[in-house]
Amino acid sequence: MTQKISLTRYLVEQQRSAGHIPAQLRLLIEVVARACKGISQAVSKGALGGENSVMGSAGSENVQGEVQKKLDIIANEVLIEANEWGGHLAAMASEEMDDIYVVPNRYPQGEYLLLFDPLDGSSNIDINGGIGTIFSVLKKPEGSTGVEQQDFLQPGKQQVAAGYCIYGPQTTLVLTVGDGVAMFTLDREQGSFVLITENVQIPEDTQEFAINMSNMRHWDEPIKRYIDECLQGKAGPRGKDFNMRWVAAMVADVHRILTRGGVFLYPWDKREPEKPGKLRLLYEANPMSWLVEQAGGAATNTQQRILDIQPDKLHQRVSVVLGSKNEVERITSYHAGL
Ligand code: AHG
Ligand code: MN
Ligand code: MN
Repeated sequence: MTQKISLTRYLVEQQRSAGHIPAQLRLLIEVVARACKGISQAVSKGALGGENSVMGSAGSENVQGEVQKKLDIIANEVLIEANEWGGHLAAMASEEMDDIYVVPNRYPQGEYLLLFDPLDGSSNIDINGGIGTIFSVLKKPEGSTGVEQQDFLQPGKQQVAAGYCIYGPQTTLVLTVGDGVAMFTLDREQGSFVLITENVQIPEDTQEFAINMSNMRHWDEPIKRYIDECLQGKAGPRGKDFNMRWVAAMVADVHRILTRGGVFLYPWDKREPEKPGKLRLLYEANPMSWLVEQAGGAATNTQQRILDIQPDKLHQRVSVVLGSKNEVERITSYHAGL
């Protein structure tokens, strides 16, 4: 019988062989995984959770003016409570908090910064659709005393770990520490995440795209051109038929791309011309872009590599095009006028 490899064992072996996971980072990843297990448990109970039910609206708004669901708040609290006392973190930042959360004085402070979208795909909660948690880990800049928002404003290429946990028919944690992408599915009987795939690879070519087509009239010309060419299928310039998928949860769309390829687009559009896009750079686009690059794909904001962008705001937004390399390069080249 082949032995199951738990997340703990995987991390210990990575630490031993590659030596690039310091003990504190290993602890951090394990704590995030444990928090995700808790969120998964709450999600699976749904309306059966009684007073603690995760269904419905919380009746409040986040810093971006979006209505918060109960689960947005619950997931945020679970992640903070799990991570604040371990001594591995200096501070956290989240989609659901205006400002950073500095580890309270009563706990030791570590050298890492954790950023998260506690619950991605909020509009899917009440319809029992795919949702997830996205996370990114940075190191506090050397020599900085205390911790402030500025410390989080690092380009995505400086991430030391990134991943997401998808709460779908299975709960699966997807992780990179800069040595490829590995996937772990939660074994509910064992209570642990078990390795299911290593060295995830995204095919360079694809015939599947993901975009919210209802925004078509607001798109920029290069996006219209790209999608129009896909829609023309075999008879058009691409010479092949394309399929379309849109789950309305980035975790689920990215998970599909890591599993069988494809391209995901959430570009700037004319609905809110002053905003660079809908998705957030630090805790959505950066971790997903690093995962995709680690699996052989590409990620740009239609002009430049997402991981090279120097952030200037914690909740900064960004255009996102990611997935199969040749499609991402094509879309980026259309924006360069090629
Ligand atoms: P969140 O639930 O964290 O606010 O993120 C939702 C995001 C992303 O996951 C998804 O790809 C996109 O919003 C869906 O947008 P539409 O509502 O335009 O489909
Ligand atoms: Mn999100
Ligand atoms: Mn969210």
